[in-house]
Amino acid sequence: MTETKPYNPQRFHHFLAHMTRLVDRGPSESDALSGASEFLHDLISHDDWLLEDFAQPHPQHYQQYLLFADPADRFSVVSFVWGPGQSTPIHDHTVWGLIGMLRGSEMCQPYSKMSDGRWAAAGIQIQMLPGDIECVSPRLGDVHKVWNTFKDQVSISIHIYGANIGKVKRNVYYEDGTRKTFISGYSNVPQLFSGLVTDAEQVVQEDHGAAALSQQSSSGANVQTSQTATKPSPTNQRVTATELSDESSPSKLPPLAPGSHSMSVASNTAFYAANFKGKSAQGGQLQTQLQARVQENTIVDKVNADSASNNSTHSSPIHIAKFANSEQLDFDEKTENVVESVLGPQEFDGFTLTTAAQVRNHLLSKNEIALIDVREEDPYAQSHPLFACNMPIGRIQADAYRRIPRKDTLVVVYDNSEGLAVRAANLLKSIGYSQVTLLEGGLSGWAAFGGELFRDVNVPSKAFGESVESIKHTPSLGATEVKALIEQKADVVVLDARRFDEYQTMSIPGAMSVPGAELALRARTIAPNPSTRIIVNCAGRTRSIIGAQSLINAGIPNPVCALRNGTIGWMLAGQELVKGGEASFPSPKPEDLSKAKASALALAFRSGLKRIDLDEYLTMRRDTTRTTYLFDVRTPQEFMTSSLEGAHNAPGGQLVQETDHSVAVRGARIVLFDTEGVRAHMTGSWLAQMGWEVYVIKDVQLSDLRAAAQSKSKNLVPALAEPVEEVSAEQLKEWLANRINLTLVIDVGESIQYVKRHIPGAWWILRSQLAQDFSRIHKANRYVLTCADGVAARFAVADLKALVRPGVQVMCLTGGNASWFERGFSTQQGESYVVSPRIDRYRRPYEGTENAAQAMQAYLDWEFGLVEQLRRDGTHGFKVI
Ligand code: FE2
Repeated sequence: MTETKPYNPQRFHHFLAHMTRLVDRGPSESDALSGASEFLHDLISHDDWLLEDFAQPHPQHYQQYLLFADPADRFSVVSFVWGPGQSTPIHDHTVWGLIGMLRGSEMCQPYSKMSDGRWAAAGIQIQMLPGDIECVSPRLGDVHKVWNTFKDQVSISIHIYGANIGKVKRNVYYEDGTRKTFISGYSNVPQLFSGLVTDAEQVVQEDHGAAALSQQSSSGANVQTSQTATKPSPTNQRVTATELSDESSPSKLPPLAPGSHSMSVASNTAFYAANFKGKSAQGGQLQTQLQARVQENTIVDKVNADSASNNSTHSSPIHIAKFANSEQLDFDEKTENVVESVLGPQEFDGFTLTTAAQVRNHLLSKNEIALIDVREEDPYAQSHPLFACNMPIGRIQADAYRRIPRKDTLVVVYDNSEGLAVRAANLLKSIGYSQVTLLEGGLSGWAAFGGELFRDVNVPSKAFGESVESIKHTPSLGATEVKALIEQKADVVVLDARRFDEYQTMSIPGAMSVPGAELALRARTIAPNPSTRIIVNCAGRTRSIIGAQSLINAGIPNPVCALRNGTIGWMLAGQELVKGGEASFPSPKPEDLSKAKASALALAFRSGLKRIDLDEYLTMRRDTTRTTYLFDVRTPQEFMTSSLEGAHNAPGGQLVQETDHSVAVRGARIVLFDTEGVRAHMTGSWLAQMGWEVYVIKDVQLSDLRAAAQSKSKNLVPALAEPVEEVSAEQLKEWLANRINLTLVIDVGESIQYVKRHIPGAWWILRSQLAQDFSRIHKANRYVLTCADGVAARFAVADLKALVRPGVQVMCLTGGNASWFERGFSTQQGESYVVSPRIDRYRRPYEGTENAAQAMQAYLDWEFGLVEQLRRDGTHGFKVI
């Protein structure tokens, strides 16, 4: 991260030019914060531009060096240099500000005024590490206390304020409720502005501004400007707006394209080499840093800081490295070979092979890649790489266009020697994907390479939840404690963060359904008394943790905790769950909504997501070199009423919980929106921490949305190779009633749905095993294929036609089972005609209400082990704020 040489003043110059352009546009506060945080991010991603004169600590108090003051006082930039153990009093700013950590670390504690007038610590303490950005403003939360994390080390943060902070009157607060007004001084600028304080107001000498006022640094009145490229000038020279225009810049400004930060391949290679499977390069400094970080329990990929690197670079053509004896190679050597291989691509059945090392490299470099496991869900869930997405071969035609929107995405397909990968690759190629490759050696190839293997489904999300808990120490209460509180009629509310249908299946007695991202929007209205304890539950751990931590991050004044181990923990404690819960969430009150909006916005800035307007989104959408997903994170009911063109509905909490279901391309851009400014920011803040490049479309109004969102998925399946005969539910019913012309229904949908209810007499078969298992189905003159919505069944017609005798009719049911059920026709349930093994669905240990205690306990143990697995794997890119 630290790059002290060569000295690169251009970076600061460009930053000032961008800032000046930004304020020239007269932005709203949130636009100013949004734009400035992007520029600040780029600035502090490199530590090669701050002059040493402005990085000097003082033995008694921290230093504030003015680096730049806008001539019209629209903004100022300050380097804040902490000596070991130094801190500020509780203070405010009265203007917007951004704090970006450059070196070391600082701690920040927000404060709130209590009803009796006292000031008390409120919300979580935030530790800032290099690259982190925090924001302040009267609108988002303005009162805090800050200190150097280290007792033995200097720390430096770079501050931008929406005014010349050396002219702004602000306040120091004391816990007893008193306050004093002050104006900051600068350590390197004479006391120019203290005269602005009236006699009636007191300048607080011990505050950070005042400390600098009374104690000029030895550097006198220097200000770091573009002129300081060679040496600081002896006077307070400032760059003017004109000087910062393009014309006067010595070099062209870098483009202001969204999403301009990514990991550099070189540093990632080093990270990978040092972190992989413990077989690291020996003795490297990087390794020492990484190990130290792991010991700190900080799952933060800090090797992420090259804003100049090109994150849209799509690796093509694919390089292949063959290792004569790869197990004997050191890991950094392996990586180097991947990068510099001169061998030509290896092929199998006409498809290029991608090695496990290359997949890993793409993941670490944040290149777009879809790593697709084409087996059924159960075998997939038993063992797979962290970012492998499951798309069983039978679902490819129905799901690929939605999950892998760009046809020239690098797709890497694998199986575990079931013979599915080549079939799937051909299928993908036939529907237009141009960069389909096979994972060399399949799953075994990944394992032989030493790749970490994960169990279960939605693993990145679950592992992320565990990381959050281990780093943030999200408070939780056990099942027996929560039950006791409920029985004592204590002042508590239990909020169930899952989908409404999951809540209805089984829930904690008295719980209310408030799915994921709805929590921060509605909790203030649900529990208006700040002393009411809010307990968040899900089935297991992830959504309880993320839900509870969402409320804490959103600055809810109430005590908040997770129900430890969710409904599984509840059952393990031998306590009863209820079925058919009906308590749904209320609408937020206007005053609660504005608080929720402000805190969600603050969180958005902190997490590093970017805010764009609709036009910027449309520009991104037109960029054919990148994948851009658009999600409407509101409730399904809202989505069905109206939405944006091209949007998919992914209610916020589910998007965080099942990211891999919606987003199969790692390295892609995710764009979110809502219509009130809370849910998209909350959801986005989590996705950004999960290493995604996230954008929120700001200020989307209901009037921007169009009706009939559900029709938008129509274009998302490939055209059929040849026309398919269809039959209506009514006609099928007639045929089934009339046994003369023998008709059989074959259901190729999910077995779990089939068992729940199916068309009477229907057979269930796994589409991927049609060829093997069809012979077990009774003979008929006409076969009608169906599935839940009829989409996958349409594509199965061609498969089945190849298996039947000439003259036998094969067709599909229009609208699938849904159209049959809608008409109220009779149905059957159970496993009576199941001809394939039910491996299409991995049975979650927390499903159903009769789980073996042992299985549930094993599941919890597995979840606890995820943090260690993540560390070994090293590709997660998580950054918990
Ligand atoms: Fe501050």
